[in-house]
Amino acid sequence: MIIKSALFVKSAVKPGQFPADMRPDIAFAGRSNVGKSSLINTLVNRKHLVKTSSTPGRTQQINFFVINDAFFLVDLPGYGYARVPEAVRITWKPMVERYISTRKNLRGVVLVLDIRRIPGPEERELAKWLDQSGVGKIFVLTKADKLGVGEKKQRLEEIAAVLHVHPSELTLFSSKTKEGKEALWAAIEKLLMHS
Ligand code: GTP
Ligand code: MG
Repeated sequence: MIIKSALFVKSAVKPGQFPADMRPDIAFAGRSNVGKSSLINTLVNRKHLVKTSSTPGRTQQINFFVINDAFFLVDLPGYGYARVPEAVRITWKPMVERYISTRKNLRGVVLVLDIRRIPGPEERELAKWLDQSGVGKIFVLTKADKLGVGEKKQRLEEIAAVLHVHPSELTLFSSKTKEGKEALWAAIEKLLMHS
């Protein structure tokens, strides 16, 4: 993907605030601190378009970015991190669920997982729910730079087994080394083409 422009559009907490036009959305979901916002910055070749933080719970609203004037990348708040304040934890779930279940523009969700962590019930439930809703999904294992080659392969196979998918369905990614950037764009383009 050649990035000609990447602009912040708006933050929203409910459907009435989502952008009203028909351009397709690709959304990014996953636990707090897994690296969703960093991943979007990496995809669009920008260091600070999306705010990132080492403190979990940085992204608390649904943030829309428009790419090449053609489609939206949507940064969703993270879920399931114990250190995130209770108030944030209580609101993210209905907010994200309402977005996924009502947003007509939604063409696919990139499920961002930390390669060092076996997916828990939240991740497996989200994947199942997307399948049932007929929303396309892409699995990404990020922070791949944190592991050596052998370890990466082993984790990939373990995580694929837990998610009941073939290892080839998981994209290794690193916002630090940019590993997986082209492969992820190819998968996103495929979802956008079917829209
Ligand atoms: P919330 O907004 O809290 O849900 O977090 P997030 O998923 O958006 O995570 P964010 O992108 O803010 O990154 C969290 C931390 O992980 C930051 O300190 C990043 O620098 C770091 N990080 C993100 N991606 C990578 C990666 O691929 N490799 C390494 N080594 N660190 C990463
Ligand atoms: Mg974030």
